[in-house]
Amino acid sequence: MIVARTRAELAAARARLPDPVGAVFTMGGLHDGHTALLRAARRECASVVATLFVNPIQFEIEQDAATYPGDEAADLRRFETEGADVVFVPPAHEIYGPGFATQVGVPALSAVLEGASRPGHFDGVATVVAVLLNLTRPERTYLGQKDWQQTRVIRQVVADLALGVKVRVVRTVRDDAGLALGTRNVRLTAAGRRSARVIYRALTAGADAWQRGERRADHLERAMRRELETEPGVGVDYAVAREPHALDALDHQASAVALLVAAWVEGVRLIDNFVLGDGLVDVEPEPLPAVAAPESGGDGPASA
Ligand code: PAJ
Repeated sequence: MIVARTRAELAAARARLPDPVGAVFTMGGLHDGHTALLRAARRECASVVATLFVNPIQFEIEQDAATYPGDEAADLRRFETEGADVVFVPPAHEIYGPGFATQVGVPALSAVLEGASRPGHFDGVATVVAVLLNLTRPERTYLGQKDWQQTRVIRQVVADLALGVKVRVVRTVRDDAGLALGTRNVRLTAAGRRSARVIYRALTAGADAWQRGERRADHLERAMRRELETEPGVGVDYAVAREPHALDALDHQASAVALLVAAWVEGVRLIDNFVLGDGLVDVEPEPLPAVAAPESGGDGPASA
């Protein structure tokens, strides 16, 4: 595995990779969710390029980027184990040179939900992903369903700017109590993780109502909120049912839905979603050894 730290090193390594190339972009702090993306890329492509870059411009508060969890040596070991051929680990000035002045953004999609709570966040994501796609030039890029709104923003950028890469969305990886894996989860205590499981239960309640034929957004949302309210330690930012592509209002005859939750637990912002409907998620992760959930409860099998 080649570790490239400059654009020039990356270009030299990229030129030698057999096509098709699959790209997995990360901010480090790797867990089995990232692994699922790497494995999907490994399975479907001849070569895998990964990136590890804590993108400063997608954090609303500068300090959050500085304290983002991660251990470069451990992350590089995991990239290597999972068969990455090249890992690009640039210092910030290698991405944003002194004259950098462009911003990529999708205003309508970025104004709602995560974008409303985190102003500027998706412009930062869209901008860095545009740069990373141009530097790595993959045939396919692998994104996690966990960040559903991010997948929508990136798909839009790729389509509108004709970036010519195929976006592959990989189903969310969860622990055995249903909690979606996330880099920030390491900041939760055992009690916090236990509380956080209510997010999965809330999404399941929304999905159950949907399966019973409920199509009214307010009723689906009430089903989720009722469950979330059982955990006083969980502060809900939003719990909504939306049309899964544009993330706008749900139609009464909808055949697909995105149930999306953002909540605060012990000062950590957690997001999760279920997307129900055909053709929304491209890749099912191959079964990984179960991730032990501390003091796991009987929430049933993790899915969606
Ligand atoms: P990061 O949070 O490191 O996530 C990197 C990729 O892993 C994203 O596509 C994310 O959706 C996916 N991922 C995270 N948790 C997952 C889980 N539990 N199951 C499946 N996939 C999961 O997302 C970012 O970094 C950044 O915004 C980035 C795209 C790298 C741009 O800076």
